[in-house]
Amino acid sequence: MAKLSLSILTADFANLAETLALAQRHPSVGWIHMDVMDGDFVPNISFGPPVVKSIAAATDLPLDVHLMVSDPGRYVDGFVTERTEYIVVHQEAMTHLDRTLRLVHSLGVKNGAALNPATPPESLDYVLDELDHVLVMSVNPGFGGQKFIPSSIGKIKSLAQMRTDRGLDFLIAIDGGVNKDNILEAAGAGADIIIVGSAVMNAASPEDELAAYDELLGAAGGAL
Ligand code: DX5
Ligand code: ZN
Repeated sequence: MAKLSLSILTADFANLAETLALAQRHPSVGWIHMDVMDGDFVPNISFGPPVVKSIAAATDLPLDVHLMVSDPGRYVDGFVTERTEYIVVHQEAMTHLDRTLRLVHSLGVKNGAALNPATPPESLDYVLDELDHVLVMSVNPGFGGQKFIPSSIGKIKSLAQMRTDRGLDFLIAIDGGVNKDNILEAAGAGADIIIVGSAVMNAASPEDELAAYDELLGAAGGAL
């Protein structure tokens, strides 16, 4: 069953401890999603290693760190913490994807590759067997609160088919514009990790919103 990765990008950064506590009260939340932006690969700046380290020390949940930065191989070691499960880099952000995926593994962390909406899944053909995680961007990266791009569903299905055909076990993540109306379609297409940010953070009651995801993903009552 798919699980949520809760993106803190649109949380109140002065009250992140509250967001972390909220996440831990809901069984559908499996990870905290950390969006790192450099103002170069994407037109926005968010936070870097010090914030990721502070979050790691303040939660029991594993972190998936999404690097929206140019040439991320230069920075990956700064994001290794006791809670970092995945470090995900963009296929489009580097010349040496294979080298960086191996570098992440050499640091004892699972790796991942992210695909912008215009990037085909076949661009990962020759590294698929090295990957722990493929992240499908369902918005153009840079900002929370954007509208879901429907062609992402077909991309998830293609990746799920490639995984089956090649007998691989990487997880598929969907990131951007996910809400109660499209989450089951994403899970049904084959997404294992469903990244949700503003739909929870901007809800009238984030607590009730996450309870609804617990139900939708079959996690209510600790069933997972
Ligand atoms: C976008 C980020 C996403 C974003 C998701 O660049 O990678 O993780 O925080 O937020 P929502 O759910 O608001 O689209
Ligand atoms: Zn993200």
